[in-house]
Amino acid sequence: MTQIIDGKFVASQIRIGLKEEAESLLKLTNKKPGLAAILVGDNSASKIYVNSKNKACNEVGFHSVVKIMESSATENELLEVIQKFNSDDEIDGILVQLPLPKHIDEDKIIEAISPKKDVDGFHPISFGKLVIGKETFYPCTPYGIMELLKYYKIDSKGKHVVVVGRSNIVGKPIANMLVQKKEGANAIVTICHTASPDISYYTKQADILIAAVGKANMITNDMVKDGVVIIDVGINRIDDASSPKGYKVVGDVDFENVKEKSSFITPVPGGVGPMTIAMLLTNTLKSFKQKMNIK
Ligand code: GUN
Repeated sequence: MTQIIDGKFVASQIRIGLKEEAESLLKLTNKKPGLAAILVGDNSASKIYVNSKNKACNEVGFHSVVKIMESSATENELLEVIQKFNSDDEIDGILVQLPLPKHIDEDKIIEAISPKKDVDGFHPISFGKLVIGKETFYPCTPYGIMELLKYYKIDSKGKHVVVVGRSNIVGKPIANMLVQKKEGANAIVTICHTASPDISYYTKQADILIAAVGKANMITNDMVKDGVVIIDVGINRIDDASSPKGYKVVGDVDFENVKEKSSFITPVPGGVGPMTIAMLLTNTLKSFKQKMNIK
C-alpha cells in the first residue's frame, strides 16, 4: 500500500503550533516575530511566493513587511534596503526572493544579510554550520523534507538516499543534512546531477529518492525499485488544454506511474511545497526567540 505524504496537512499543523506560540510570546514580550521579504522585479512566480509568505505571516500573527523594488534597482540600492532591515529591531528574518535580475550579484546580496536574520539559511555562515552539523537556520525546503520524514516516521538511518539535483537551495543542503551523524539523519547519500551518465543506475538503488531538478515527470517507473520513498521537490508547469488556466503543475516524478512502486510519495502540488513556508515561519520564530533570549 502506498501512503501519500500530505505536506499540506503537516504544514497546517506546524502553522497552528506557531500561531499559538506567537500568541503566548506576544503576551510575554509585547512583541511579534517579524519577517521582511524583498522582491526585485516582476517575475510572476516570485510574486506569488512573496505574497504567500506575507499572507502566511499575517495568519500566524507575525509582523510582515514586503519591499518591492523595480527590476532596474541597482545592487547598491538593494544592499541599502538589506542594511536597513539588518538594523531594524522589529525584523527577525530577512528574505530576498531569488532569482534576482542578472545585473545583481546574488552571492553578494546573500552575504549582506545578517546571519542572525538569515531565515532562508543561504548565507555561507549558515551553510557552513549546516555542513559541520552545528545548530543554524536550515534552508526551508530541505528543512521541510526532514520534517516530513520525521512526521511519517521514515527512518533514514543506514538507508541509501539518492538526491537528484545539486542546487544550493535544495540538493546540496538536503544531502548534507541527511548525512549527519544525528537522529533523523545518518543516511548514505548519493547526489546525481547533469554530469551523471546514467541517472537511473543510481535512482534504482535508492531507498529514499529526492528529486529536485525542475524537469517535469523525469523520474519514471522503470527508474525506481519497489518500496522506494519518493520526495518530489519539482514544481513544473506543463500545457494542459483541459484546465481553464491552460496549464497544470507537476513534479519531477511521473506520479501516477511511480506511485504504484513506492511505499510513500509526495504529491505535487500539496507535498513538499507547503512545507517551505511553514519552515520559513519556524525559522523566523526561532530568530525572534534568540533575540529575546527565550529558550
Ligand atoms: N527561490 C526559490 N526558492 C526560494 C527560497 O526558498 N527562498 C528564496 N529567497 N528564494 C527562493
